[in-house]
This record gives sequence, C-alpha cells and structure tokens, in this order.
Amino acid sequence: MKIFAYGIRQDEQAALREWESNHPEVEVDFTDKLLDPETAQLAKGADAVDVYQQLSYTPETLTALHELGINKMSLRNVGTDNIDFDTARRFDFSISNVAVYSPNAIAEHAAIQGARVLRQTKPLDNKIANHDLRWAPTIGREVRMQTFGIIGTGHIGRVLIDILKGFGAKIVAYDVYRNPELEAEGIYVDTLDELYAQADVISLHVPSLPENYHMINAESIAKMKDDVVLINVSRGDLMDIDAIVDGLDSGKIFGLAMDVYEKEVGLFNSDWSDKEFPDAKIADLIARENVLVTPHTAFYTTKAVYEMVTQSMNASLAFIKGEETPNEVKY
Ligand code: COI
Repeated sequence: MKIFAYGIRQDEQAALREWESNHPEVEVDFTDKLLDPETAQLAKGADAVDVYQQLSYTPETLTALHELGINKMSLRNVGTDNIDFDTARRFDFSISNVAVYSPNAIAEHAAIQGARVLRQTKPLDNKIANHDLRWAPTIGREVRMQTFGIIGTGHIGRVLIDILKGFGAKIVAYDVYRNPELEAEGIYVDTLDELYAQADVISLHVPSLPENYHMINAESIAKMKDDVVLINVSRGDLMDIDAIVDGLDSGKIFGLAMDVYEKEVGLFNSDWSDKEFPDAKIADLIARENVLVTPHTAFYTTKAVYEMVTQSMNASLAFIKGEETPNEVKY
C-alpha cells in the first residue's frame, strides 16, 4: 500500500513521519510540489494521494491521476470548492476532507481579530511605534458591550459563540440548519436582515457556495448598523470587497478583520517583502488602520496541522482498505 502526499510543508513533516512510523505496512512518499497534471506523475504506483492546495483540482489533474489508476484523494483541509466534481464523478473518485481539524484555531482567530478591531490595537501599535504614547483618540469598544451576529453555526461558529460568551457579549445567530442546543438558548434570528439590523459585529462562518457568493454586498451593508465591524475567516468570495471598501470610506463600517480574500490564490502565503503587491486593492486594505489582513492563517496552528495530516492519511488508508471513513466527502 502506498500513499503519495503533495504540497508537504516543513511544518507538516513531523506529523507525516509520525503517521508513517505508526503504519509500517504503508509506504509513504511526499513532495513539496502541488498537484497538477505534470506532478501527478510523481504519484505513479501509489494507491491514494494526500493533498492540500488552493490550486484547482482541474479535469486535467484528475484525469492524470485516473490514468495512473489513482481514484482516491484525501484533502488535508476542509474546503472542497476547488475540486471539479464532474470529473471526479466520472472517474469514481473517493474524496475525503478534514472537516474538523481544529475549529478552535479559526474561531480563536476570529475572536482575537474582532477584539483587536474593537480595541483599535493597530492604530495604537502604530502610534506607539512612532513614540506617540497619548491615549486619544484611540478609544476602544468593549467586547461585552457588543451584539455579535454569527452567520453559520457549524463547528467553527459554535466555538466562536462559546468564546464570545466568555467575554460576556450578546449573540444572535443565523443558519439554515439550526443547532438544537443553540435553538434552545433562543439565539437564532429568522432572517439575515434581522441579524444585520441587530449586530454590532458580524462574523461569517459559511462555506463558499453559489448562494453565498458576495452575500456581504452594498445592499446587505446598507441594512447593517452604523459602525459595524466585519470579520471574515471563511472564504473571500462571501464578500464584495468593493462594497466593503465603499463602506470603510463612508465610515459605515468601523473596521474589518479579513483572513481570506477573493483573489488570494498566488497572493497569500508568498513573500512580497521586496516587491509591490500585484493587487492594488489588497495594498490599500493592508494600509488602512481599521483593517486587519491576515493571509489565510486562521487555521495555521500546531494542533490543526497535526490533525490535518493525521486525519487525511487515516482517510486515505481507509479508502485503500475499502473501509468507511467519517471524513468521506459525499458528492
Ligand atoms: C480550509 O481548511 O479549507 C481552509 O480554509 C484552511 C486552508 C488554508 C488549509
């Protein structure tokens, strides 16, 4: 049995080696290269591939694997929006993801960044770096005084709600699938419009689906409270970034914490220190004192990385053995 892993970073190697030593019956090989039609050849002889990348799994890539007799693919991440499922279906691919690697990693990041926007830590840090130690006008808003609107109450949204309760914040939530425990607490509102009308801070925890595309747009922003704070640690295409910039310019939006960006592929997780950003919009957002940009790092913790590697390898092995895995993506 052989599993070939793509895009393995330095920080993933220890978990991969540990998994390999716990499974001596499986041959494990890996590359730091991402999976594409050309690099697919590296997996020749493997029974399954283990992958994480933001590059698309195109018809050509999946066909290249199919031609090598490989139709088992385990993602180390949760998002499956970059898979061409028509081709996967045609070649009968078994696909798994790691839906729950560490909801806390992402929820904590949302809470921390949201709190940083409220407490104005970026302008305060900038002032301090310039030896300006005056208080005003960098006054904070307390987390407990805010109503948080949580859109999406899956694993991550629920952990975020628990964290925010610890701060004493008031919570309202919206989801098409209601969690019974939260339902019993009475935190759900029936419509997004109700959430927009009540929330001081709005955090998005829904997947990238056609029906969610640009859900935060000029129309929805107009329905929000003045001085709203927005948090997006989910997917860039949930937000119409031009409408957000207009909201920041007009002062309607108090601040933004964004870990994802619609055009992040090829931009995030690259070193631009000696170069200009190739995207003027991200340069503008990064320069703003009330905007916190992180390059899709909410997930990036030691615990999450360990779980992503271990659970995805377990799923690949289950596929090879013809066993069930809770991580299988039903499509
Ligand atoms: C996902 O798991 O889909 C994420 O968004 C995190 C990814 C950058 C590993």
